Amino acid sequence: MDVDVPRRERLLTSSRPMSDLDVVSASGPWLYLADGRRIFDGSSGLVCVNVGHGSAKVRNRVKAQSARFSFGGPAVVRPRAQLEVAERLCRAVRRPQDSVALVTCGTLGVEVAIGLARNITRVRDRKRRGDILTSTLSYHGNSALTLALAGNHARRPREADAFGLGPAFPAPYTPTHDHSGGTCDASCAAEVAKAIDARGTENVAAVLIEPVNGTTGGAYVPPPGYLKRVSEICRERDVLVIHDEVLTGLWRTGTPLASHHWEGTEPDLVILSKGLGAGYTSVAAVLVAPELAPLLRHADADPLPAMGTMAANPLQAAACLGVLDELESLDLKAFTARGERLGAALRELPGAGPVKEVRGLGHLYGVEVHPGRLWPLMKQAQMPGPHNRDGAFFYPFTGTGHPRSEGLVVAPPLTSTDDDIDFLIAALRDAVTALS
Ligand SMILES: Cc1ncc(COP(=O)(O)O)c(C=O)c1O
Repeated sequence: MDVDVPRRERLLTSSRPMSDLDVVSASGPWLYLADGRRIFDGSSGLVCVNVGHGSAKVRNRVKAQSARFSFGGPAVVRPRAQLEVAERLCRAVRRPQDSVALVTCGTLGVEVAIGLARNITRVRDRKRRGDILTSTLSYHGNSALTLALAGNHARRPREADAFGLGPAFPAPYTPTHDHSGGTCDASCAAEVAKAIDARGTENVAAVLIEPVNGTTGGAYVPPPGYLKRVSEICRERDVLVIHDEVLTGLWRTGTPLASHHWEGTEPDLVILSKGLGAGYTSVAAVLVAPELAPLLRHADADPLPAMGTMAANPLQAAACLGVLDELESLDLKAFTARGERLGAALRELPGAGPVKEVRGLGHLYGVEVHPGRLWPLMKQAQMPGPHNRDGAFFYPFTGTGHPRSEGLVVAPPLTSTDDDIDFLIAALRDAVTALS
């Protein structure tokens, strides 16, 4: 059925242009189009299809569960599959003793993490308020609360609708902090201390931070020492650290958690989402450190935050188990080498053309372009190149943070092969060359 213009308008999506990729099927990293061409999914959808499209492991798990029963959260049916997800997920991210809340999307994961952090600090530290501090370069979801809290400028509500909330400290990136000389002493972390002290430590429940930035600024990586110092500053003040690893969790940056790239950065709570559902199910997991979880059941504690009708549902859990099956069968050595090769090749993209800077790690990169070059480059990448008839899709980041920047998110499925990565590099290089 043809989708004509008025019908397109019927669907209220984001302000991003609606895609014209008419996909009839998908397998691994490839999207197959109605006109017979195929397009490489160079951003894993919205940086979520981490185990590729059409996974038989996921399909079989979901099929088996739906043949048994499809609804039944932990308040209704003994949550066998959900407990298995919790167990295997915690092991996968090297936090084997954590407690886990399973909810239906990244935004709700952040909301629930905020609720849990407030409960914990109220009981443990008798905090007066439950303020949550975020950075000027951050995105934490699309609810009224998370939009108001975070620093994604384009998505911020009008000031009058923001409940008086907003980002509290500058991000540790240029131009607010210039580390270009490579001599950062992590003094940018002192900004976090200043922000907490300005509110009064008795009023701050947690600092909420993306350890590696996702799509707001395009894979900004903090300077070494930054996250460790932020953790120390928070501990000195009885403030919890929440890592938003909705996008980066489960190997996207090359390690189970992005924070594993640095010592001494273990958060009190961590939120995972995209890599756990991998586009097959909508899910987020909030992990709570074992020394804190018992406080949530303390006699004086507030009730746990409400998590929703579809929280921890069995089909969701079945899909997650299939995704974990896939992740557990990754050849980590080859996977790591592929990520490093991808990063090295991207950093060698022609400098005289649209590309301004490349940053990132593992299987997550931001290719920042000069102003005005983003949409032409995205379009060019989808066209056949001199070396192939297939194109590549990349999700854009569009200058919505501070610092402002725009470019392509390069984030292929983690299950991509050597040949897949070669194709991706060649397709992007050809597109950049064509516009140089
Ligand atoms: C870092 C981060 N936090 C939270 C979210 C919100 O997740 P969701 O879109 O699943 O609600 C996103 C989504 O892109 C994200 O990248």
